[in-house]
Amino acid sequence: MQSGRHLVNIALIGFMGTGKTSVGRLVAEQLQFDYLDTDDAIQASTGRTITDIFTKDGEPAFRALEEKVVGELAGRAKTVIATGGGLPVNPKNLASLKTHALVVSLWSSPEKIWERVKNQSHRPLLHDANPQAKIRELLAAREPFYKQADVLLNTDLRSVREVAQQVVHQFRLEAAGR
Ligand code: S3P
Repeated sequence: MQSGRHLVNIALIGFMGTGKTSVGRLVAEQLQFDYLDTDDAIQASTGRTITDIFTKDGEPAFRALEEKVVGELAGRAKTVIATGGGLPVNPKNLASLKTHALVVSLWSSPEKIWERVKNQSHRPLLHDANPQAKIRELLAAREPFYKQADVLLNTDLRSVREVAQQVVHQFRLEAAGR
């Protein structure tokens, strides 16, 4: 682990549908941490939905709001942070999270992701003529960023409970080593 890091939070990164929200909530409950979702924080501060921001202002405007939220997280402790799927593509975001959080990447295959997201409609990037191809394309482009996490966990064959246990275990190991 790099020196100069003070890991008092956990950040979950990964593609849409990899389980960040359900795992994050369970980890927060188990560690008695707060739970914070960056998309929720953006919606709360703007009073708008993510889809509305994407549709009316465009993706770059949404990414700017994401970067602002990440900057504000540096003052937090004992928080499990679930991040939007595209957030770690901005190197500033990952660098900032790494100063205070153990960064855990949840990974899934495109098939499993599709199975989890196909009946949901709140993700503007999947409002596409061929959402399955879009998932494969975005996942491939983002893989190098997701792999920069401290811990990588494949969620395809594990239950939410098992993944959460792994996250808690890794965080405790990290805390014990400090
Ligand atoms: C996005 C993922 C979404 C949300 C926005 C863009 C992405 O979050 O931030 O729709 O770029 O992958 P989830 O990963 O929580 O679905």
